[in-house]
Amino acid sequence: MNTISLESGKAEQFLAAGAIEALLPQVEAANRALEDGTCAGNDFLGWMHLPSSITAEHLADLKATAEVLRANCDTIVVAGIGGSYLGARAVIEALGNQFEWLTNNGENPVMLFAGNNIGEDYLAELCEYLKGRRFGVINISKSGTTTETALAFRLLKKQCEDQRGLEMARKVIVAVTDAKKGAARVTADKEGYKSFIIPDNVGGRFSVLTPVGLLPIACAGFDIEALVKGAADMEKATAPEVPFAENLAARYAALRNALYNAGKKIEILANYQPKLHSMNEWWKQLYGESEGKGGKGIFPAAVDLTTDLHSMGQWIQDGERTIFETVISVAQPRHTVLFPHDEENLDGLNFLEGRRVDEVNKMAELGTQLAHVDGGVPNLRIVMPELNAYYLGQLIYFFERACGISGLVLGVNPFDQPGVEAYKKNMFALLGKPGYEAETAAIRERI
Ligand code: PA5
Repeated sequence: MNTISLESGKAEQFLAAGAIEALLPQVEAANRALEDGTCAGNDFLGWMHLPSSITAEHLADLKATAEVLRANCDTIVVAGIGGSYLGARAVIEALGNQFEWLTNNGENPVMLFAGNNIGEDYLAELCEYLKGRRFGVINISKSGTTTETALAFRLLKKQCEDQRGLEMARKVIVAVTDAKKGAARVTADKEGYKSFIIPDNVGGRFSVLTPVGLLPIACAGFDIEALVKGAADMEKATAPEVPFAENLAARYAALRNALYNAGKKIEILANYQPKLHSMNEWWKQLYGESEGKGGKGIFPAAVDLTTDLHSMGQWIQDGERTIFETVISVAQPRHTVLFPHDEENLDGLNFLEGRRVDEVNKMAELGTQLAHVDGGVPNLRIVMPELNAYYLGQLIYFFERACGISGLVLGVNPFDQPGVEAYKKNMFALLGKPGYEAETAAIRERI
């Protein structure tokens, strides 16, 4: 098995005969329109052929920059929000050791994330943690004006300069931003930081295979070539020429839309590996921001299992029947742990003695799937042979391509996000930002 796969029988049993077939012309037209660049939002299709067009020179430049940071830093803070950080975090956490990064094993830097909230305590505790550490910063912002990221970067830049000296700070601060505009670009040029460009035609949530994701992933010590190769293989495997039955992205897009049309308004992405928690978060942004508009769109929710079976399990099994579930299942874990013997056997679990923990996890997964299907929850299953960079590259591109197709079939522009401006406008009005005088007066009337 050298590819991820999609099992759909336990979802299709909930659909009327012909429901998928009826969507095929739209699905195929959407995939063709993506390929030909003729769809809504076609000025943001740069992600489509990114994997196959990334050059060896570009990867070498990213790896060389990562080496400079790794050689000079015990800690690297990635400042960014939304599409400017979720993909990097998802891959780093999926590939990393869940505990070692906290203590820094000496081979790889501790990777931290900032600029993704406005929590005063978060920032205070981060700055405190960084005291005395040889830290560097990757400042990621396409617009260069995002409040959360700009705030964190102001603090981090000053602390890095104070702690490490101006010359070293300029070596260990790297910018990933627009080619020409925005504060991050201006600062990078003024200070002489090494910088990478986020292409104009790649939106934030589709940018993990640009330096936005690749630089932090390389800094963490993971194989960006394998990640890109996995994505490039999936780019080929999801092209419009690939027949529907073999085209994972087209199938997933068709199934989601058929389920939505059948009243399933919420999709729950579930994993059985804690390492995939941030992949859930990345997926939620990808689908939420791409499809939730114009009064339409599947609500993307996510759970970590079996953990959340002890919190959300009741709702999923027995709540309103407007959900379907998509499980990411990893066939082979990296390690082997056997169920231990206990002399007293008070928990009655000695019958599992000597068996792999993963066998228990897999039976929990299968038992849960069957229970949820019995409870009226259509189930899709994406199987990854292993959690490595290559299959993560496949998974990322699969989800991106399916998202483009699915949004177009739904009848929205999957590549814009007009709704996210509303809170920013109110926040700046409430804070009295110069230029917002009329909005400030209007909003104060309301409170
Ligand atoms: O997907 C998106 O466009 C957003 O999530 C952005 O990535 C996020 O708002 C950060 O924007 P920027 O990179 O301009 O700081």
